[in-house]
Amino acid sequence: MIIQWDEFLVPYEQAVDELIAKFKAYKKEFNRKNLHCPIEYVEGRVKSVSSIVEKALRKGIEYEHIPQKLEDIAGIRIICRFVEDINRVVELVRMRDGTDLDIMEEMDYISKGKPSGYRSYHINISYPVVTVDGLKRVAAEIQIRTMAMNFWATIEHSLKYKYNRNIPADLQNRLCSAAEAAYALDCEISAIREDLDASMLG
Ligand code: GTP
Ligand code: MG
Repeated sequence: MIIQWDEFLVPYEQAVDELIAKFKAYKKEFNRKNLHCPIEYVEGRVKSVSSIVEKALRKGIEYEHIPQKLEDIAGIRIICRFVEDINRVVELVRMRDGTDLDIMEEMDYISKGKPSGYRSYHINISYPVVTVDGLKRVAAEIQIRTMAMNFWATIEHSLKYKYNRNIPADLQNRLCSAAEAAYALDCEISAIREDLDASMLG
């Protein structure tokens, strides 16, 4: 089977653009109300063709099953300041369930990180895109994490990529400890914020 990648990726690009715009819109709303916005910033990307092919091969996914089985061809990332903001963003996504998106799966790697140390909250959705050929539903992945979690994940990903996923076990362990340190920082920042609120308001 030959995939016309340019054409194949069009609805995914549309989905990423629309989802970024929809989640950015919350910032304005919170600002207008003078409330803390649980969303710090939003970014997104369509997976490159080489990454799609690499992941499909690595996971033994046949070409014709790529649209169903690769959930993160379209991906957006919502970055928060505080750990407790993550749940508030999850609630914002759940409020949309059944309206302009459908939630397929939620994965909580916050309370307990992945073995690598990775922390994030993932929501896999099905998203309708209106194209000139009619309505197309595409899979998209929403990753919700703090700036500290994003700092770690970005660097770990680039190191893994640079060394073709062959990181020696002792260095993997150090990366995992670094992720724990990032999470401890997140928790301390939240505690400082809480204590400060209590001391200023109380
Ligand atoms: P499975 O773990 O087999 O489900 O593979 P997957 O790639 O589908 O993993 P999952 O759904 O947990 O995560 C999907 C995305 O999360 C990946 O494409 C990455 O963006 C991110 N991710 C997951 N694990 C890690 C990790 O250990 N390090 C980094 N940097 N990112 C990760
Ligand atoms: Mg997955």
